[in-house]
Amino acid sequence: MSRTLFVTTALPYANGPIHIGHIMEYIQADIWVRFERMQGHHVHFIGADDAHGAPIMLKAEAEGITPQELVGRIAAGRPQYLRGFHLSFDHWYSTDSPENVALSQDVYWRLKDAGLIYAKPIEQFYDPVKRMFLADRYIKGECPNCHAKDQYADACEVCSIVNAPADLIRPYSSLTGAVPILRESDHFFFKLSDPRCVEFLREWIDAPGHLQTQVANKAREWLKSGGGIELGDWDISRDAPYFGIPIPDAPGKYFYVWLDAPLGYLAALQNYFTSGKARANGEACSYAEFITAPQTEQIHFIGKDIIYFHTLFWPAMLRFAGPPYKVPDHVYVHGFITVMGEKMSKSRGTGISPLRYLEIGMDPEWLRYYIAAKLNSNVEDLDFNPDDFTARVNSDLVGKYVNIASRAATFITRHFGGELRYGDAAKLAKEAAGTAFLVAESYESREFGKAMRDIMSVADRLNEEFDARKPWVLARDPAKLPELQDVCSRALHGFKLLTVLLAPVLPQLAARVAKELFGLDRPFNWADAETLPTNIRPYSHLMVRVDPKQVAALFEAAEEPDKLSSHSPISIDEFRKIDLRIARIVSAERIEGADKLLKLTLDLGGETRTVFAGIKSSYDPAALAGRLTVVVANLAPRKMKFGVSQGMVLAASGDGPGIYLLSPDSGAAPGMKVS
Ligand code: 2FM
Ligand code: ZN
Repeated sequence: MSRTLFVTTALPYANGPIHIGHIMEYIQADIWVRFERMQGHHVHFIGADDAHGAPIMLKAEAEGITPQELVGRIAAGRPQYLRGFHLSFDHWYSTDSPENVALSQDVYWRLKDAGLIYAKPIEQFYDPVKRMFLADRYIKGECPNCHAKDQYADACEVCSIVNAPADLIRPYSSLTGAVPILRESDHFFFKLSDPRCVEFLREWIDAPGHLQTQVANKAREWLKSGGGIELGDWDISRDAPYFGIPIPDAPGKYFYVWLDAPLGYLAALQNYFTSGKARANGEACSYAEFITAPQTEQIHFIGKDIIYFHTLFWPAMLRFAGPPYKVPDHVYVHGFITVMGEKMSKSRGTGISPLRYLEIGMDPEWLRYYIAAKLNSNVEDLDFNPDDFTARVNSDLVGKYVNIASRAATFITRHFGGELRYGDAAKLAKEAAGTAFLVAESYESREFGKAMRDIMSVADRLNEEFDARKPWVLARDPAKLPELQDVCSRALHGFKLLTVLLAPVLPQLAARVAKELFGLDRPFNWADAETLPTNIRPYSHLMVRVDPKQVAALFEAAEEPDKLSSHSPISIDEFRKIDLRIARIVSAERIEGADKLLKLTLDLGGETRTVFAGIKSSYDPAALAGRLTVVVANLAPRKMKFGVSQGMVLAASGDGPGIYLLSPDSGAAPGMKVS
């Protein structure tokens, strides 16, 4: 039976570019979506920007533009990522939209009617200079435990203790430096502690299929930690100034961004319907009919950091808003992506820039394959390791998979005019169906790593079989030509099977193979796995190997200043956090395989550091030894392709090619502080 699937990925905040963590999630969802489409199911794959909240408001303000302008600029940058990595979203929209205003306000009224919304005064820090209430992340002060200065409340960087903002000694606003005052204001709450909510959530979480086991366990713990009745009520309002959706019956109050963000899934879906795109994609009904239809499955792909919102608030909001709202059918949670074991920062991402990846001409399908090979259905983190990446892509995709076609096709074209003939076609078709069935199960359950392993073991078998029959020997004996044709036909049938099975991961390559090699006028669907091709066209080259130089270039980019970054004002306090020191360059060396970097050994007045600097194009290493420069001494050590960099030297550059290291006036000595 054909399924109707409404699939989303988490909506990225519209205050920064898409980083590799987003890309991993989109690739995971995209592979699943493409697999379902190949099965003949109706999929509507929807994304959007998460536009609201204080960080976006403040960033826009710092740039001197409106939040809408900021969001618009960020949105304009999205297609290059989505197209670049072959992400087949059917629609991409924004939470800052009329549909979302209507939906958020509608859900609010319905929850209010259900008796699940109440107002209560709360005390919160307020910045009297900026004249706004401060979220905890904007308050700093001295840690009451270890007395480290300039700490955030949520976790002291020095002693790791978690403080309440009010416990900080001499708290100050990180926005203005002002001393915040405690001030009272009415906030609206969603009564998650209501027995109806708790009971519903318990059932929803326990129902098989909604959540992965680990995720359900986590959600159950949260339910229990409140004794089942005291699950914290949810503060859903923020006071002006705030960039968000107004609460209809409370002037000056806005919905907290996390209320309107998930409704943005529905707002985007609605816009997809009204814009006519859903109809073009085969959906004859209206948005309202679609979202209420019992057969519509609502599926969210998300990361493990936002489980709370998607397994408690979101289902409860939908359930108690009532029809046409419907609770999600599945929430699929993945872990984080780490790069060489290093965790990603939510705002800065990792050392890998997705745009840089594309710019240096790396094939997006390499990354799709690598991610697929490392993903399973659990909430495990996935590590990107450059050597592993290069090895896997080169050995699996090029060495095993593509190799089969390039070897067999030449014989078929040269000796048989492109015609394929099989000794035992029925047996081959049956085996292929069995393999396709097995791999389908893995895709369906998001066990992509297993799917890739099974596919590659078929590729291994095909290569072994091919080698064992020595076609290059058969080709020399006219009497053996029928055997040669059988050997090569089997190999090419195998290659077609592998291509169908890999199509969710390598959509572009699969489309080329369908068209160029097998002469199909449409992309493969899953049923194609079982049919035996009868002829081929001449083979043309399909995929190149990863060049280790490209991978090196990908990581070097991480050390370059972010050319796209905007210049928002920082406070003196933020500036003081940077520990600038005079350093003497003890030695500078070229690095094998690096185009831009030099390896510097620095003396910081007794302490020796290794720093990788992107200055190779402008400096002869020999001329650098002995000179003084300025280094950022408290930069977190960074694992790079060539080793760990323990700081950063400062250099000037303009639009032209030159790079100019800074040097102090004479008299400065290694270790001196620069301020
Ligand atoms: O954590 C985040 O990046 C959020 N912008 C995700 C929102 S997902 C959905 F609820 F909109
Ligand atoms: Zn502390």
